[in-house]
Amino acid sequence: MTQDELKTLVGRAALEYVVPGSVIGVGTGSTVNKFIDALADVRDRIVGAVSSSAQTTERLLARGIAVFDAGEIDRLPVYIDGADEIDRRGFMIKGGGAALTREKIVADLAERFICIADESKQVNVLGRFPLPVEFIDMAHERLVRRFADIGGRAVLREGVLTDNGHPLLDVHGLQIVEPPAMEAEINQWPGIVSVGIFARHRASVCVLATSAGVQRLEYA
Ligand code: A5P
Repeated sequence: MTQDELKTLVGRAALEYVVPGSVIGVGTGSTVNKFIDALADVRDRIVGAVSSSAQTTERLLARGIAVFDAGEIDRLPVYIDGADEIDRRGFMIKGGGAALTREKIVADLAERFICIADESKQVNVLGRFPLPVEFIDMAHERLVRRFADIGGRAVLREGVLTDNGHPLLDVHGLQIVEPPAMEAEINQWPGIVSVGIFARHRASVCVLATSAGVQRLEYA
């Protein structure tokens, strides 16, 4: 199977986590796009969605799915999103699509994070995928030096601003052995808006598409 076919497979498989009669959280990216397409066929089962990006909002609305502001909703039963990498404990790197901050905000509203991914995303140690970081422009040079101090090479994502109007760094060369500790540390640095380590908001379940079929991995 091609990677695109695996994404279609896992996008459909994620429908089993959709709680009937609820508002669900919806992430961003090419895998989530497949999920939204599958969701369109059963849209009458849900009240609507809280979206993590302008791109996802546009796709949801185009398929007749109501979109609610995060502020209108106290709690979501599930948040369904992709990942750039996921390790064996459900810790993730996210933000390749520049939506990491809103993704974390919506994930924080949810009881369970359902990660949908193809097998290429599963890793033993996070960090081969450059770590996305949304930041305040004034802190640029200082943050580049701080990442260098911990062994990372931070590169500005040229020509891209997030939906919040901020620039991004992609940090190469990190080996994120303890994701909770590194997330907590980077979050303390002045000028950081969000770091793309999802440890505090790790996956509850990963629905993983492999060439042998769909696996469901639950994390304790
Ligand atoms: C968006 O900012 C990201 O966090 C995506 O969830 C992640 O990049 C996965 O995207 P794909 O499904 O396109 O690989």
